[in-house]
Amino acid sequence: PGIVVLVSGGGTNLQALIDAASKGQLGGSILAVISNKPGVGGLDRAARAGIETAVVNHRNYPERAAFDAALRETIDAYAPDLVVLAGFMRILTDSFVRHYRGRMLNIHPSLLPAYPGLHTHTRVLEAGDEEHGATVHFVTEELDGGPPVLQGRVPVLPTDTAETLAERVLGQEHRIYPQAVSWFCQGRLRLTASGAELDGTPL
Ligand code: GRF
Repeated sequence: PGIVVLVSGGGTNLQALIDAASKGQLGGSILAVISNKPGVGGLDRAARAGIETAVVNHRNYPERAAFDAALRETIDAYAPDLVVLAGFMRILTDSFVRHYRGRMLNIHPSLLPAYPGLHTHTRVLEAGDEEHGATVHFVTEELDGGPPVLQGRVPVLPTDTAETLAERVLGQEHRIYPQAVSWFCQGRLRLTASGAELDGTPL
């Protein structure tokens, strides 16, 4: 199966997917990496791996729907089976999300449904939580709210800062994202009307 990955920044999750693919553990091939920002690390990582890249710069579009239309056109030129948001920092319109329903995944740095939105590590520290983590989910119209697929958990340490916590959470992201993508590429992971299912069993 063909995968298109969307990035906005450093691309460490993309790198985890590239590494898994190079070990034959992804179950699919990354057809292209598309960024909404030029010159970001994710584009360099793709180029180094010989993966085609494209930039659809949101600054070039007067409004969200026009950007989304251009992004959709760029993605669909590759006819992917799966679209993976990896550190992609744009909120997508409902029509865009509906077009990819059941074949678009995102990873969010919290144990959803806790802490949707931004600055999750700071919020976890401020709340005094003892556990934190990351969630892979199908993308639906609900921001950071789609049906969960897989989570990775980490302890919060008394000495933690947002930076040390983010680093620990990223380690889990880099483990669970390739796993979830591999399940999808093997045809084991599906989005049904009642949520995500793995091998026919509700997650
Ligand atoms: C990180 O905050 C990660 O938790 C979230 O997106 C940000 C950048 O990730 N998923 P990446 O290194 O660009 O994959």
